Order: sequence, then C-alpha cells, then structure tokens
Amino acid sequence: MRTNFNYDTKDLWQKDRDHYIHPWTDFSVFKEQGSLVMAESEGVYVYDSDGNRYIDGIGGLWCVNIGYGSEEMAQAIADQVRRIPYYSTFTHLTTPPAAELAAKLAELAPGDLNHIFYSTGGSVANDTAIRIIHFYFNRLGKHTKKKIIARTDGYHGSTYLAMSMTGVAFDHQGFDLAPGLVHHISAPNCYRRPEGMSLEDYCTATVQELEDKILELGPENVACFIAEPIMGAGGVIVPPPGYHQRTQAVCGKYDVLYISDEVVTAFGRLGHFFASKDVFDLQPDIITSAKGISSGYVPLSATILSEEIYDVISVPQADGALFTHGFTYSGHPVSCAAGLKNIEIMERDNLCGQVRELGPYFETQLDTLRDLPIVGDVRGKCFMMCVENVADRDTKELFPAEVHIGNRIADHCEKRGLIIRPIAHLNVMSPPLTLTREQIDEFVSILRESIEATLADLKVEGIWDN
Ligand SMILES: Cc1ncc(COP(=O)(O)O)c(C=O)c1O
Repeated sequence: MRTNFNYDTKDLWQKDRDHYIHPWTDFSVFKEQGSLVMAESEGVYVYDSDGNRYIDGIGGLWCVNIGYGSEEMAQAIADQVRRIPYYSTFTHLTTPPAAELAAKLAELAPGDLNHIFYSTGGSVANDTAIRIIHFYFNRLGKHTKKKIIARTDGYHGSTYLAMSMTGVAFDHQGFDLAPGLVHHISAPNCYRRPEGMSLEDYCTATVQELEDKILELGPENVACFIAEPIMGAGGVIVPPPGYHQRTQAVCGKYDVLYISDEVVTAFGRLGHFFASKDVFDLQPDIITSAKGISSGYVPLSATILSEEIYDVISVPQADGALFTHGFTYSGHPVSCAAGLKNIEIMERDNLCGQVRELGPYFETQLDTLRDLPIVGDVRGKCFMMCVENVADRDTKELFPAEVHIGNRIADHCEKRGLIIRPIAHLNVMSPPLTLTREQIDEFVSILRESIEATLADLKVEGIWDN
C-alpha cells in the first residue's frame, strides 16, 4: 500500500464511467461498477489510485515483459522524442531507430524472415499479413488464392479482418464478420480431445482436418493458414507434440503460406525471442509480433516476411506503381527506439534465460493447484499459463456461464493483491518476465486461497457441493 497518492479516485471513476468506451466490456456490470483506476507501477507491481498494490499477473495484457518502471526505457523514449518525435516512413524516408530495429528483428527472427513491416498493434500486424499475402499471390498471377484458414478459439485481434480470423464464438456475438474469406478448423485442445484418444492420434486427426479443409476449399483458392504457437486468449491451448511441423508440411504441400501469430508468444514469454522455431521447430513464412516487442511502453508491431515473399512483393506491379499499404505511424521513431531498448534490456539481463529457468518452476507451482476440486486443467508454458475451472473433474463439465467462475476467482485474487485474467471459466496468467521465485510463490499462494474462497462462496450460495 502506498499512502502518498494524490489521485481523486472518485472523480476519475466518474469521468471514466461517463465518457470512456472500454474495449471488451460487459456494460451491464460496467455501468454499475465502473473501473478500477491503475495509476502507478514498479517492477512486477501495479498500484491503483488509492495506493493499493497488486502483483500484475497478466503483464498489462500479455505485454509488459521487462516489467514496469524502467528508467532506461523512459530515457530512451524521451531522448528520441527530443531528437525527432515523428517522421513519415512513406516511400524513401526513414529514421535511425526504424532502420536499426528492422535489422535487429531480422537478426532475431528465424531463418530468412528478414523483412519488417511496422504497425501499431497485433490486429493491424495480422491484417497487414493478409493484405501482403493477397498482393503476393496476385503478383504471381494466382488471383484465386484468397481464402484464409484459421482455428476455432484462435485470437487474432479486433479489426474487421482480424476478428473474422478469430475463432472464439463468444467474441462474435452481435458483430458482423467478413463473409466467405475465413474458414475455421478445430483447435488442437488436448484437454478436451475425445476420451481415450492418444495425443499422437489426436495430432493426426487435427492435422488431417487442415488438409481436408484445404482440399474442400480447393488449394488454388487457399492463401494461408494462421495459427498462434500457443493459443492465448482462446484458453492457452498448447498443441500436441509435432502439430506445428505437421501443419506446416501440409501447407507446403498445397502452396499455402503459414502465418505464425506470435503477438503473445514472442519476446521471451516462452523463453525465446521467437517461439516458432526455438520452441516448436516451425519455420513460418510470416511472423506477426506486437505486445512484448516494446514491452507495452508504447504501441508497436511487426509483420516479418520471408525473403521469398519480399522478393515477389518488392517488384513493382506496373511502371511507377507503389506498394500501397502503410500507416501514418508505421515505423514510428519513438516506438522503434523503445523496441531497440527493449531488446537491449532483454539481452543484457538475459530475460529469455531467466524465463527458461523460472518458467518450469511457475508451471510446477501452478500444477500443485490440481488438488483443488474445481481445477480441471493447468496448462501452458513458462510465463503463459492458464487454469481451467470445471464443475466436475471426471466429466469436465463446466459451471453454468452465469456462475462467472473465472470472474469470481479473479475478484478474490484482486482483493488479495493479485491481478489475473478471467476468460469465461478460465483464469489466464502472463506476468512480467522479471517475476522472481519468491514472487511466484506468493502468486500461487494467493491464487490457491482465492480458489478456496470461491469454493466457500459457491457452497454458501448452494451452487456447488462436491
Ligand atoms: C495472438 C494475438 N494476436 C493478435 C492480437 C491483437 O493484438 P492487438 O490487441 O494489439 O491489436 C492479440 C491480442 O491479444 C493476440 O493475443
């Protein structure tokens, strides 16, 4: 608890409630409860405007990888603002940080992913990947190759196209989608695979589904497959061993490009700068990255292309024609300066190595929660984890949605000084990569207490009595 805060919480609460349209908000609750105002931060902690301290178990939103309060990051951002705060990178213009960061990202990205297109967030990075892929096939004269295959429970963002690629049914309620362009196959959800099926057989079945879908749509019509190495917002779904290499092989067979959406998994969350190659032995045609690329200090994202794609799209389609894709803030110098400093800090402090060391500890400590009667599954890898809560562990039956089990547990955590993310019946965790062993112990102990407190509530309310 900090006592020196001078925020007028009531006034902020009122202004926010009256005027700020929040992303992803349940208005029925929001209009009554309003917001929790997060005002300050340090290390792995955030403080609300009344001075209450919380372990930030979600790293802002899977993004504050180096932790809060980095003076040198603040300095790098301020220095760049003083040098040149903005300049266009359209046509032949650039700035030093945009050029330096592109070269650094090309060095870190696997294989020949050497060409960087910048934007300001993961959704736009994914939209960019699709525009470029369509342009690429047009350049090759393959004008029918347009369709996108994505997965149920995949999350790719909130622009019109990114949301159409997103496969979380809940997220589609009431909004429209781009019809005809995107087709979904099942998520490789090992916990909910058919009873008695081996992981190997399950992998074969899910990979076969991709091949069947390509054949059903006609390979001449399919442009790409988009997949997160580990699905994030869809429930931290880790695919069965071999899944990514095998889906890549299927894509290769039918001239379908592979986009690895590493908006969450890159920049150390799984212990490497990029997870595709180093964790899953996958060499995609495109990687999209955002969030941890600047540790959330300023908006930045990158769509990283192979030499093969770049060679095709960098030949003008007509005399004097332009590559007409780009945003005012593509390659924003302040964002790129933050991206460079972020990588410098991560390399110097060996944050990836730290995650490779402490990530397994976080996994095993969270795994101890399995003795609690509503914990059906604990899954994920390193600093990208999830607890799946169920009403019955034998049948894996869920609590009715109106119980809001994930919210209840998250609320108890909040009261005890820990922020975790409720997604329906799940609780998702993605802390800053600087979380220490002692902080992991505190984290897991608060989560245990919070699940126990939730169980007690459910019993009192007559909802659950196992
Ligand atoms: C895997 C993945 N892709 C894309 C996005 C969209 O990123 P943004 O919200 O920065 O547009 C997200 C956001 O959570 C994500 O998790």
